Amino acid sequence: MQLQIALLAGDGIGPEVIDQAVKVCDAIAQKFNHDIQWMPALTGAAAIDAVGEPYPDETHEICVNSDAVLFGAIGHPRFDNDPSAKVRPEQGLLKMRKKLGLFANVRPTFTFPSLIDKSPLKQERIEGTDLVFLRELTGGIYFGERGRKDDGDTAFDTCTYTRKEIQRLAKKGFDLAMTRSKKLCCVDKANVLESSRLWRETVQAMEKDYPEVEVAYEFVDAVAMRLVQWPNSYDVLITENLFGDILTDEASVISGSMGLMPSASVGADIGLFEPIHGSFPQAAGKDIANPLATVLSAAMMFEMSFGLNEEGALIRKVVDQSLAEGIVTEDLVEGEAKAYKTSEVGDYLAAKIS
Ligand code: IPM
Ligand code: MN
Repeated sequence: MQLQIALLAGDGIGPEVIDQAVKVCDAIAQKFNHDIQWMPALTGAAAIDAVGEPYPDETHEICVNSDAVLFGAIGHPRFDNDPSAKVRPEQGLLKMRKKLGLFANVRPTFTFPSLIDKSPLKQERIEGTDLVFLRELTGGIYFGERGRKDDGDTAFDTCTYTRKEIQRLAKKGFDLAMTRSKKLCCVDKANVLESSRLWRETVQAMEKDYPEVEVAYEFVDAVAMRLVQWPNSYDVLITENLFGDILTDEASVISGSMGLMPSASVGADIGLFEPIHGSFPQAAGKDIANPLATVLSAAMMFEMSFGLNEEGALIRKVVDQSLAEGIVTEDLVEGEAKAYKTSEVGDYLAAKIS
């Protein structure tokens, strides 16, 4: 298969973890006779430094002309501590999501048997956890009207949703639930927020089209609690943008390291695949960051964008092997065991595939 993939390394540890995913994908391509053409492009603080803009038009052109986008991380401390910065790296990611129509962010959370003791949660609580968040990604408070008034002493951000936006996200949730255990949880704050009441009303109206799916409606504060108490009681969860942002970070600790969880953002045509962790600036350039979330994002890309399930499965298998054999970065190392470098983990995975 001919695959053209836009490669957006971004900031911080982005370039290092992306390098490992490229090694892995190239090894897969060789083994399964695919031809990958990588199309590197600028984004984030790296793009601001180079051209003054976090998601330049040239990058967008490269993305729309590719079959998928593989993305590293975005963000730089220089902007985090400057609330008055006019351009911010994160704006690049938001603009990219919006312009590429990526309205659904698929964030799985699962446990690895060999890492079950790495989780800060008790083993019996998390065993068997296998859930997926579908986070709405191009609406809500992230994109609503915002501003200052009263001479700058009052600030506001608004959460706006249309029925259509909710329906298209919820449809993905129902469809996904049908391929899994037919359980769907709609997460909202309908006891307080009008936008949440529209979510609930819209999802309730869709239930008749999916008579086999059992739908639960839960408030976001209660989900935040139950997620760490009984994560294995959830399967597919759908929610709005900000709730999903917060809950998926929370969910990532279940697996034991934030460096492990992949994600996909999908919508109209093109899919974007990225680790859920951030740019981890303290580790940038040190060759110590865990590349597995990015490598697993590449597995999702093979499966979801190209329907190449065997390729995705092989990536997951070698990742499991690296964990079982202790070929892991320092975030997963215990006691006297050796910590491997980011690049060594990538080399190991590529060699195993070949
Ligand atoms: C994420 C990140 C982004 C978000 C930031 C970097 C804008 O936290 O992908 O979860 O809030 O969506
Ligand atoms: Mn986030």
